[in-house]
Amino acid sequence: MQQVDALQGELLAAIASASSPEGLEAVRVGALGKSGSVTALLKTLGGMDPEARAAAGPAYNGLRETVAAALAERRTALDAEALAARLASERIDMTLPMPAPARGSVHPISQVMDELAEIFADLGFAVAEGPEIESEWYNFDALNFAPDHPARAMHDTFFLPGADPEHGGKWLLRTHTSPVQVRAMLAAPPPVRVIAPGRVYRCDSDATHTPMFHQVEGLVVDRSIHLGHLKGTIEAFVRAFFEIDDVRLRYRPSYFPFTEPSMEVDVACSFEGGRVKIGGAGTRWMEIMGSGVVHPRVLANCGVDPEAWSGFAFGCGIDRLAMLKYGMPDLRAFFDADLRWLKHYGFGALSVPTLSQGVGA
Ligand code: PHE
Repeated sequence: MQQVDALQGELLAAIASASSPEGLEAVRVGALGKSGSVTALLKTLGGMDPEARAAAGPAYNGLRETVAAALAERRTALDAEALAARLASERIDMTLPMPAPARGSVHPISQVMDELAEIFADLGFAVAEGPEIESEWYNFDALNFAPDHPARAMHDTFFLPGADPEHGGKWLLRTHTSPVQVRAMLAAPPPVRVIAPGRVYRCDSDATHTPMFHQVEGLVVDRSIHLGHLKGTIEAFVRAFFEIDDVRLRYRPSYFPFTEPSMEVDVACSFEGGRVKIGGAGTRWMEIMGSGVVHPRVLANCGVDPEAWSGFAFGCGIDRLAMLKYGMPDLRAFFDADLRWLKHYGFGALSVPTLSQGVGA
């Protein structure tokens, strides 16, 4: 039995000092292989008389098990060491150095458009687009503006030379984003749920008007859409956009040829130190958008059966939204391309608005 103890001590020491899988394998072969020392010992059991075998058998088998277990344990440890060494040697630094200070910033209008897309995506709206050079048919006729209706003149339209070969009528710079309603309905059968942010043009310029400005259109067409859906959607939007819960909205009757009934939407606000503050406690009102139930004639003009479908639409000035939310007093500065203004009011290129982090950036 002394022989067994000595062999076990010798083998365990060899196993413990094996520093590579190959070295360990050599120890294993030397002990448990065909002509290994433990195997040789086990072979002697056959030639023993029963008494001696009864005494030696358990000891020899115990030796084999102990050695096998030590081998397995050492193997696991060596594998872990090898993996750790490989991970350390293959480590890659994937961070990029940021040039400081980071150059360029996101214009507040682009920022607000991203915020709108994020908020409305959450409500199930897709983003639609249309051309800025538009045909009179999409901008006015299809939207139920009668040929001699004064609303056409009220839009201070920039007309362009030439005529639309498809629908007749003139080319123009779109005066609102509402023609995208028409395009969205013609593009795919209902249900429709889109927003359309973009540039619009009117021949108008003073402290609160620029000849080019931005709107976002919203359009929903589905079965049995009514004013409740319109109000619920606008309220959810205003809450998410201004990041306040106590919003108070006021709906004033208005007129647009393409909606009936039509309403202008005001939001309650107050003026503090020359700045507008949106919130339910305010006692002043600020107009933020036009809206209404889509006129059945507009649905019909766009190939949608007004008996089967109904819809609501709204149109909102993006520049106004940006001014209100980020406290920028003069609209004209938006389009001066003044780097100092952009540095002050612009947004970091990496601060993408998300609902989870707050669309307020
Ligand atoms: N297009 C309208 C405007 O520019 C706004 C609007 C859009 C009103 C959709 C009702 C529905 O004033």
